[in-house]
Amino acid sequence: MCGIIGYIGDKKASDILISGLSHLEYRGYDSAGIALMHGKDIDIYKAEGKLVNLIEVLKTKQDVCEKSKIGIGHIRWATHGLPTTINAHPHTCNCKNLTLVHNGIIENYQELKEELLAKGCIFKSQTDTEVAAHLIANEYGKTNNLLKAMQNAVKKIKGAFAFCAIHKKEPDRIVVAKRNAPLVIGVGQNENFIASDIPAIIEYTKKAIYLSDHQVGVVKKDSIEIYDENDSLISNKIELLPFEAIAISKMGYKHFMLKEIHEQGDVIRNILSGKLISPKDSIVLEDFKLTKEQINKIKRVQIIACGTSLHAGLVGKYIIEKFAKIPTDVEPSSEYIYRDTIADENTLVIGISQSGETADTISAIKQVKENNSHIAIITNRTDSTMARLADSLLAINAGIEVSVAATKSYIAQLISLYLLAIFLGEAKEISCYKDEIINLKQELIKLPNKIEELLEHTENIKTIAKKYSSFKDFIFIARGINYPSALEGALKLKEISYINATGYGAGELKHGPIAMLDSDMPVLAILNTGIVYDKVLSNCEEAKARQARLIGVADYIAPKDKDLFDDLIMIPKVSDTLSPAVNIVVLQLLAYYIAEYLGKDVDQPRNLAKSVTVE
Ligand code: M6R
Repeated sequence: MCGIIGYIGDKKASDILISGLSHLEYRGYDSAGIALMHGKDIDIYKAEGKLVNLIEVLKTKQDVCEKSKIGIGHIRWATHGLPTTINAHPHTCNCKNLTLVHNGIIENYQELKEELLAKGCIFKSQTDTEVAAHLIANEYGKTNNLLKAMQNAVKKIKGAFAFCAIHKKEPDRIVVAKRNAPLVIGVGQNENFIASDIPAIIEYTKKAIYLSDHQVGVVKKDSIEIYDENDSLISNKIELLPFEAIAISKMGYKHFMLKEIHEQGDVIRNILSGKLISPKDSIVLEDFKLTKEQINKIKRVQIIACGTSLHAGLVGKYIIEKFAKIPTDVEPSSEYIYRDTIADENTLVIGISQSGETADTISAIKQVKENNSHIAIITNRTDSTMARLADSLLAINAGIEVSVAATKSYIAQLISLYLLAIFLGEAKEISCYKDEIINLKQELIKLPNKIEELLEHTENIKTIAKKYSSFKDFIFIARGINYPSALEGALKLKEISYINATGYGAGELKHGPIAMLDSDMPVLAILNTGIVYDKVLSNCEEAKARQARLIGVADYIAPKDKDLFDDLIMIPKVSDTLSPAVNIVVLQLLAYYIAEYLGKDVDQPRNLAKSVTVE
C-alpha cells in the first residue's frame, strides 16, 4: 500500500509527480504529499484526503513548481498514525536537509525511535517513516554521503520498505532502496523516474529497471547506479514495460470498475488463446513446468490467496478435485503463514494474486518454497514479486486493473483455474469426465459471447439495484461450486457500497444465520440447474417463510416457483461447473449499480487499497 514517485530531469517535476500519484491512487488515498527540490532548497507540500486536495494546495505554489525539476511524492494508506497532514509523507530530519518518502512498515521503529530520541531527534509525526528519515540523516552525519547513509541505515531497519530520499547537499540525485515492497526505476532520455508501479510512469517511458530486495540505487538525470546488499555496484538490467498508457483510461465509462466488468469477454478470449485450441484437443499450458511424470506424483494441492483471489481458489478446489482427482486445500495466506503447514515435493502450491504484491501471500509462498514444493503463481502481474518466486508462472493477462474492486482479474483467475484443472486431469489421463470436459471446453469457447450478451441487457439489474440500495444488510446464498460466488458477490457489495453483506453456503442458513431473517434482510440466492438446484430452492422457501425479500439469480425457475421470488435476474444457461463465471458478472453489476446509485466512490472505496503490501 502507499505509492511513491520520483522524478529527476529537465521537466516540471510537480506535473510528473501529480500525474504519477493519480495513477497510484489505487494503492491508498488518505493523504498525499510531494517534495520539490530547486537549487539547494527543498519545499514540501502535503494535504489530507484525496489527491485533489494536494492539487489545490499546489495551485498557490506555482513559482516553486515552475522552477523544480527534481522531486519525490507519496500517496498514503495509513498504517502508523492517523491520516492527517502531519503524518502525510514526505518526512524530514531535524535540520530538514534530508527528505524521504516510504512504502512499507518498519517493524523495529519503536526501538530505533528510542535510540534516535536519545540522540536528540525531534519527532513531529506518529509514523514509522519519520524514524527512517532521522536514521538516514544520522548516518549522513557520519558519512556525508547520501548513498552510504542509505546503505548503512537499511541494514538497521527490520521490515518492508521502498524509500526515495533527497538531500539538500546532493541536489543532483535521488537515492532509493527496496526490501519487500515494489519499486521500479523508469529509464528516460536525460531524465529518470521512480515509482511503486508502472502506471505512474508508463506515459513517459517503456524502459525500466526493477529493483530487487536489498538493493540501493542512485538515480541522477543521466545515470542510474544500483548496488547490491554487499554495497557492490552491479550492472543494470533494463526491461521493457508491459503496459500501454491506454489501459489506464476509462474509455468513456463512468468508472474503471464498469469498464473492467465490460472487458471480461475479451479477457477470457485472451486467456484461452493458444491454450484451448479446440474441444477435442488437450489443453496447452506451456508455462506449467511440471512433466506428466511429475504431475502424476502430486499428492495434494494447496491454494493460497487473499480476498477475491481466495474466492477464485475456492472454485479451483471444486474443479481440481473433480477433473484432476487431487485433494485440494484452500487457505487465506494470512492464516497459512502461522501454522506448521504440511507441504513437500509432492505438493503443488498455487498462489493466486491479481497484483502479485500481496504481502501475506508473498510470505506464505516464501515459507512454502523451503519445502521443495512446486510453486505455481496465477497472477495478472508478470513483473511482480510473486511472479519472481514462481516455478510455473501462469499469467492471466487481464490487462491493468485500476478499480480497487477486483472484477476482470477474478474471471481471469477462474478461467486459468479451469484450464489448469483440465490440464492436470488430461496429464493424469483421467477418463471419467471425458465427455463433460469436451462439453466444458465448448462452453469455454462460447463464454465470452454469453457474457457480452448479458452485459448488453442490464436494465433489470439496474432497477433491482435501485430498489434494494436502501437496505443496510444483505445475505447471499448458494451451494456447491457457487458457494464461492456467494462469498465474492457479498464481498463486492461490501467493498464498494459499505452495505453489510455476508455470503453463506445455503445449507448453513438454518444453522444460525436464519435468526437474522425478516423483511429488512434481502436474501440473494444463486440457482443454477444442477445437483444442488432443488436444495437451494428449499433454502429459499425457508428464507421466504421468515419474510425475507428474495432475489433469485437463476438460469431457470419453473413457473410454479416464480412467486417465491420478489425479484429475479435470469442468466444465460451454462453447465453448473462453469456457472460461477457467469453468475459473478451479475453480482459485480448489482454491487456496482447499488454503489453508483448511492453515490459512492466506486473505484476508490474508503479504507481499501488495491495492493495490500503489509501483513
Ligand atoms: O492482488 P491480490 O489478488 O493478491 O489481492 C488480494 C485481495 O487484497 C483483493 O482481492 C481484495 O480482496 C480486493 N479488494 C477485492 O476486490
